[in-house]
Amino acid sequence: MIISTVVGARPQFIKAAVVSHAFARAGVTERIVHTGQHYDADMSDVFFGELGIPHPAHNLDVGSGSHASQTAAMMTGLESVWQSEQPDIVLVYGDTNSTLAAAMVASKMGIRLAHVEAGLRSFNRNMPEEINRIVTDRLSDWLFCPTQTAVDHLATEGMTEGVVMSGDVMLDATRFFAKRAAEQRPLEQLTDQESGSYFLATVHRAENTDDPVRLRGIFDALGRVGNPVLLPMHPRTRKLVEGLDLAPSIRILTPVSYLSMLTLISHSRGVLTDSGGLQKETIWLGKPCVTLRDETEWTETLEGGWNQLAGASPKAVLDAVSRSPAGPPPAFGEAPRGTASDGIVRTLLA
Ligand code: UD1
Repeated sequence: MIISTVVGARPQFIKAAVVSHAFARAGVTERIVHTGQHYDADMSDVFFGELGIPHPAHNLDVGSGSHASQTAAMMTGLESVWQSEQPDIVLVYGDTNSTLAAAMVASKMGIRLAHVEAGLRSFNRNMPEEINRIVTDRLSDWLFCPTQTAVDHLATEGMTEGVVMSGDVMLDATRFFAKRAAEQRPLEQLTDQESGSYFLATVHRAENTDDPVRLRGIFDALGRVGNPVLLPMHPRTRKLVEGLDLAPSIRILTPVSYLSMLTLISHSRGVLTDSGGLQKETIWLGKPCVTLRDETEWTETLEGGWNQLAGASPKAVLDAVSRSPAGPPPAFGEAPRGTASDGIVRTLLA
């Protein structure tokens, strides 16, 4: 059996890492196609090296572009790879343009499609990711859901066949790599900040970066949280904040590796972010999160105020930072048995 795994953007490398390890344990041939959506060394290569992901068998080098041109270039490239490779199963992750392109090509070529992180919904169709999720779920033969909430969303849309509550592969990744991060990436190698003295922040969602009022509101709030803010900056955001007058307490870093990120979360006072994955990692590592969006797909994280939706208004962000969560951090994403990654591989081989 040949599995063709498609990845292209940073969070997909992290998810694919743990599932690739599970394929290797099961003795399955997995061939990775990298679409080239993320191409900077610190957005791509560093993850393959650090997380032990097999070298991609193909790199489509599509790079940046409008949604249509980027997705179209991926589709053309994937069709030609699969015409020669003839995989039995195509495996896709999450909600990026790479996910969507692969889902459309695989289903039209009659190749069975497996979607990891199925059933996520923000109910906001202004997000490109929401469109990518809805289409990919519709086309998938296996829909691996990280939580029961995701299973329920699919049921509401009439999808029950092929739906598996697998648990969250990002929980596998956080558990597996947090141990390694603690050994290999001491805080002092990453920053001169003391443990517990800083907030960690990331901002990259189109809904924030492409709206000057929201972007200004977020950076205004980050400058006033009362502690230094370490902000590893996504290249798309870097271009857009150039004209802003940033407070000196905001420390811009280049994008960091996954192990470095886990270390930075673990030693922070808390995290402010518009990323999906980072909301979960923060809670799993026992830190409070403020989400710089108006909604979240990961509603489990909101329990006890561990994650708060603050949008982009400075007042809402500062109020959220001043509140403390109640009770233990919510538990979510657990696999029904063993790890999510091993369960996904077992299901695909059954
Ligand atoms: C994509 C995903 C988003 C995911 C994010 C993770 C889509 C629609 N969006 O957003 O869901 O949360 O990845 O990071 O697929 N750029 C570089 N170098 C790179 C990569 C990007 O300079 O290595 C710049 C380019 O100017 C590019 C812009 O960032 O145009 C946006 O990149 P793109 O991959 O299109 O979307 P992301 O914002 O990364």
